[in-house]
Amino acid sequence: MVPRVTRWDPSSWKGKPNAQAVAYADEDALDQVVERLRALPPLVTSWEIERLKSLIADAQEGKRFLLQGGDCAETVADCRQANVVNKLKILLKMSLVLILGGRKPIVRVGRFAGQYAKPRSSPTEVRSGVELPSYFGDLVNRAEFEAEARRPDPQHLLTGYQHAAMTLNLVRALSAGGFADLHHPEYWDLSFFESAGLTPTLREDYQLITRQLADALRFMEALGEGAIEELSRVEFYASHEGLHLHYESAQTSTVPFGEGFYDLTTHLPWIGERTRALDGAHVEFFRGIKNPIGIKLGPKSTVDDVHRLLDVLNPSEEPGRIVLITRMGAERAPDVLPPLLSGVKRRVLWVCDPMHGNTHSTATGIKTRSFDAILGELQATFDAHAHAGTILGGVHFELTGDDVTECVGGAAGITESDLARNYESLCDPRLNQAQALEMAFLIARRMRAPSGGLSDRPRG
Ligand code: PEP
Ligand code: CO
Repeated sequence: MVPRVTRWDPSSWKGKPNAQAVAYADEDALDQVVERLRALPPLVTSWEIERLKSLIADAQEGKRFLLQGGDCAETVADCRQANVVNKLKILLKMSLVLILGGRKPIVRVGRFAGQYAKPRSSPTEVRSGVELPSYFGDLVNRAEFEAEARRPDPQHLLTGYQHAAMTLNLVRALSAGGFADLHHPEYWDLSFFESAGLTPTLREDYQLITRQLADALRFMEALGEGAIEELSRVEFYASHEGLHLHYESAQTSTVPFGEGFYDLTTHLPWIGERTRALDGAHVEFFRGIKNPIGIKLGPKSTVDDVHRLLDVLNPSEEPGRIVLITRMGAERAPDVLPPLLSGVKRRVLWVCDPMHGNTHSTATGIKTRSFDAILGELQATFDAHAHAGTILGGVHFELTGDDVTECVGGAAGITESDLARNYESLCDPRLNQAQALEMAFLIARRMRAPSGGLSDRPRG
């Protein structure tokens, strides 16, 4: 089917059904905030966006690998130096391990500086007989279960923008040379190597990768100061789910020396699994912007769905424009991925999000994910791509650089009884820094030995 070409402007989405629309009581207050947001400076630039698009185009050809990660839901309260720095550090460490594994450059993309809007399966939440609006992320309301906190308030859009700007400011400053301690072993905190949960083979493999990393860093050091500086200047791009279309469209505009409209709140916005309806508001908004865009694909996605989405969102098959992020779950992935991959042989970057299809609740009602299930989906996804002749060009994680206990498993042996100890996420459970780094080591092993398994640990 040839897609209908209709007029687009940054607000044409308003005429389409929006599966996650926020009900604001005061429309005038919303309009005023949107006008203010429109007048404020952009958070990113079109040339950064175009550069990321060209890196994604390379990744589509297997010349680069994308690492995307960060919180499920960022919060305004967590916009603190340590938090942001730790997130950058874990992404950087993972990327260095992945470089050694895949022998190709890594494109680092944070789920940060705007990951403040969350889709919810139900508009309201009931606790002890009291019903309040669900928590839709700090861009909309607040998480405390109190009527005033849960009231959607347009002012939160401005607060979100401000905190995204503060986060990006620190990210940019650190990217420009704040990682000089990279070659010091204490930076790496590899204490999980010592844990009893690792088999001798894995431990040896990890030690080998670490030695190679240390050698490579020493080599860079021996080349002279310039080289270290070069190494400590690393690029990070920002991404978030482009869920709140008032926020996204307020900062969408043309740019002086380019054509078309850019969403200048972030480099890489993505469409969530719950809002990718072909005739919906989100697809309408995303089709008109020039950013590279992500699309989450859950286990119900059909080949036909994807073709239609691509016809609308990338009719000219522009390289670097589309990132398809599959999140099938470890159980479903082996069945649903192969037909999808062989049916959609188009110019896209395939990325695996092994988090969102692997969430479950413990007997006491705590939301968690198991390290082994996450690994299982990665394994199945690597296998499916190898079989279909397509390229798995990136991975997408919910993670933090802090020592939280939200996901179970990994060499550090986090069990369900540990979850209460340091569970901070207001939304989905994240890998902590040791789990995230271990995951990178396992992916690096698989990249080196494509026919091998991701883990030689017994699956639990
Ligand atoms: C998310 O990435 O936090 C999310 C809600 O994902 P999905 O749309 O894939 O469920
Ligand atoms: Co999530």
